[in-house]
Amino acid sequence: TKGGYPHFMLKEIHEQPKGIQETILRRLDADGLVRFDDIRLSKEDLAEIDKIYIVACGTAYHAGLVGKKAIEKMARIKVDVEIASEFRYDNPFIDSKTLVIIVSQSGETLDTLAALREAKRKGARTLAITNVMGSSIAREAEHVIYTWAGPEIAVASTKAYTTQIACLFMLALDMGYKRGVLDLAAYREILEKLKGIPEKIKAVLKNDLQVQKIAGKIKDAAHGFYIGRGMDYSIAVEGSLKMKEISYVHTEAFPSGELKHGTIALIEDGTPVIALATQQSLFEKSISNMKEVKARGAYVIGVTLEGNELIEEVADDVLYIPKVDDMFAGLVGVVYLQLLAYHVSVMKGLDVDKPRNLAKSVTVE
Ligand code: F6R
Repeated sequence: TKGGYPHFMLKEIHEQPKGIQETILRRLDADGLVRFDDIRLSKEDLAEIDKIYIVACGTAYHAGLVGKKAIEKMARIKVDVEIASEFRYDNPFIDSKTLVIIVSQSGETLDTLAALREAKRKGARTLAITNVMGSSIAREAEHVIYTWAGPEIAVASTKAYTTQIACLFMLALDMGYKRGVLDLAAYREILEKLKGIPEKIKAVLKNDLQVQKIAGKIKDAAHGFYIGRGMDYSIAVEGSLKMKEISYVHTEAFPSGELKHGTIALIEDGTPVIALATQQSLFEKSISNMKEVKARGAYVIGVTLEGNELIEEVADDVLYIPKVDDMFAGLVGVVYLQLLAYHVSVMKGLDVDKPRNLAKSVTVE
């Protein structure tokens, strides 16, 4: 049931703090460290791995983009994120030193399953991150980490996505520690911060009314853009997909610095631009990109951290997230993007939980 919520999607958006918390706690040992014993990626195993592919479709692919940033930063291993339907036919660079991480909520997406089989055939080690126990991908992958999102009913994925990201963060931490990139103190500090994310997401959820008001202002737009740098770009693509699939507004996501290389020609008076500026280290650069679109008439909706009120000089509306490290800011900020797509869909009278042309599980190639 919808548990008192008007739609499954809204219920599932609100279940994210709990899902992320469960996903983390189920993997901690008595010493409070991440425990992946059953996936046999020991220090020795990890020392041998020199390349990682993350392979998935749609929203799960977007979680992979965040995972790449986390693993490359914390464990210093090269990661390529690939769309499953492409990876399968690309003759990927795989040998026994390659780890292929398959991300799939349902565990049944056919292209993703086929990519897993191809990776195994070529001799890679395989690890699945999935939400469904006993699913085909869970059964066929060498190792599995489960997301503890609970059943996801709405076609548009929300809680599966954020719990996938939580898994990828834990994996990055574990790898970083075992490979000696992070010492125990740094490892514990980052883990503590990750455990604090559900509380920060709760603060975002409390601000729903403001998101509704903003949704009312952009609901009639024919098109729009999401921009961000670094981790913010990884989140922007997911925000844009949510808007397209449930609200039928054509949006595109761009790395902020790339817009001026062509696409900025599409900005007109009133074009909504959702500008993510959650990365403190890139804040000034993000502000100057916002000025570029503002000067061309864009209606700018900024997402940033509390304390960055300077943004109000360039943004028409601002959604604030609690102070949080750059590494985790996207995971908190993306919840605003889910809510925004949700409210636009509701205001347009669309079928939020069952958007046209889409199915929850895609078992055709
Ligand atoms: C979008 C969405 C899809 C799925 C994709 C992969 O909201 O839900 O893009 O993420 O079809 O599905 P899974 O994760 O089940 O392999």
